[in-house]
Amino acid sequence: MATPRIVILGPPGSGKGTQARRLAERLGVPHISVGARLRAEMAAGSELGVRVADRVEAGELVDDDDVASVLREPLRAASAGWILDGAPRTVEQARALAPLIEEPDGALPQVIALEVPDDEVRSRLAARAEREDRPDDTPDVIEHRIATWSEDAAPLLARYADRGMLVTVPGTGDADQVTARVAAVTS
Ligand code: AP5
Repeated sequence: MATPRIVILGPPGSGKGTQARRLAERLGVPHISVGARLRAEMAAGSELGVRVADRVEAGELVDDDDVASVLREPLRAASAGWILDGAPRTVEQARALAPLIEEPDGALPQVIALEVPDDEVRSRLAARAEREDRPDDTPDVIEHRIATWSEDAAPLLARYADRGMLVTVPGTGDADQVTARVAAVTS
């Protein structure tokens, strides 16, 4: 792969962060996580962090402009490629972010969608809630995050499938098994 530009999508708890980190390390490019960047802004108490905090904690999507704000510089700086984790989330956001993630020369990014059943997602996020302190890993908010992805995913993935950019990968099994599947479609 000349310049790796790969988007990892999937429901909450599908392993986007886990697989994006591993893929970024293997390919030697930055892992850019929207959720992690939003949480860092919240922890820093920045204007953007204060603005998005209620929505992130409630499992609501934040405004497309705020997503673009946290992505613009890291994507531009990553001239050797990037692994983008967790964006776009909607067709509207895909259109809004297209200037940032779709190359003007036509070298479209690869989009990998991890497929994990809702019950597996619930169990992974419940397990994480026992050892980590993410305010959006409460049972109600987890259900809301799952429902939001379920509503938005089909048209978003169809957009990328229609353009030949989408690869779907089963996200079940242990993390190493998923990493092997991801490697098979990115090498
Ligand atoms: P974000 O941080 O992206 O959260 P998410 O999409 O809900 O996903 P998670 O981080 O919970 O899970 P993941 O799929 O990354 O899986 P992970 O590897 O962590 O976004 C948070 C919030 O920010 C959103 O709700 C929204 O408010 C806002 N936001 C973010 N992006 C946005 C956007 N584009 N537009 C608008 N708003 C946005 O794994 C989960 C757990 O499972 C971990 O404990 C992990 O160790 C474990 N695990 C991973 N793989 C496996 C496996 N194969 N088997 C067993 N356990 C596994």
